[in-house]
Amino acid sequence: MKMIIDTDPGIDDAMAILYAAAHPGIELLGLTTVFGNVTARQATRNALHLVERAGLDIPVAQGENKPLVNGPIEPSHHVHGPEGFGELTSIDARGTKEEEGAAAFLVRMARQHRGELVLCPVGPMTNIAKAMLLDPEFAGNLAGIVFMGGALDVPGNVTPHAEANAYHDPHALDVVLQSGAAIRMVGLDVTNRVLLDAGDFEALARINPAQGPFLQEISGLYLEFYAGRAQEGCGLHDPLTVMAAVMPDLLGLTPTPVRVVLEGPEGGATRRTTGRAEIEVATACDPELVKELFFAPFRVAASAKVGAVAIP
Ligand code: BDR
Ligand code: CA
Repeated sequence: MKMIIDTDPGIDDAMAILYAAAHPGIELLGLTTVFGNVTARQATRNALHLVERAGLDIPVAQGENKPLVNGPIEPSHHVHGPEGFGELTSIDARGTKEEEGAAAFLVRMARQHRGELVLCPVGPMTNIAKAMLLDPEFAGNLAGIVFMGGALDVPGNVTPHAEANAYHDPHALDVVLQSGAAIRMVGLDVTNRVLLDAGDFEALARINPAQGPFLQEISGLYLEFYAGRAQEGCGLHDPLTVMAAVMPDLLGLTPTPVRVVLEGPEGGATRRTTGRAEIEVATACDPELVKELFFAPFRVAASAKVGAVAIP
């Protein structure tokens, strides 16, 4: 599957990107970056770091640093750390970003891989909305959009109503929801049901000595944040979105027309509506199965390196 991840790395973003890099069924064509957990500049540096760390040679295009309509937002440093990778303060990246911005890059890649490219936005939807405004054929050129965002039947995580990615740019999400693209929404309804705790990160570090210890190190602050909310582990938000793209049957999906509240105290809330095209909303999952499948490519990638175990 040809995929581009639009991302604001971010700890769970890093997990999602390294998962995609390790997955034999995913051909990652590039990363585009956006504000959110960090600034767009930090997101780009972190994305370049992850590309290098994963041994990939793919483009990273920097995108928007503020929402489509609303004023700039403060990055979520209290959740993801001052630089986006927990307590790490020095993050090296030797590569350089593309000269082309994210929206133009997305438009070009969707044309070049017409009907084949799956887009996984796991940050605010700003770059995707910009690409849609730039090229009216963009949505139709994509094979589909599988995005992390929203909360349909559960409370939000930034306000009682809104999930972070939807909250940070509701207008952009609105553009995308009305685009006519084939859309799958992976929101808090499922992502907060799959929790990774310190023991899971220890296991990951054992299973995959190349990437596991890094993910374990950056997850410390993230786990503390969730513990402060009386949650025993971090939600598998962004990784589950990539998994739901490459394994379409992994989650229970309910066709639903969805709108997003644009302003006011409920801004960023995602709601059922009428008179709009249905999108696929992830409403059910088997947390234990998801966890096992999340570990699988890390296990296989590590084994493949030493040539010890055949890919199942
Ligand atoms: C989403 O918000 C960000 O903090 C995470 O990276 C994820 O994309 C969860 O609400
Ligand atoms: Ca994210």
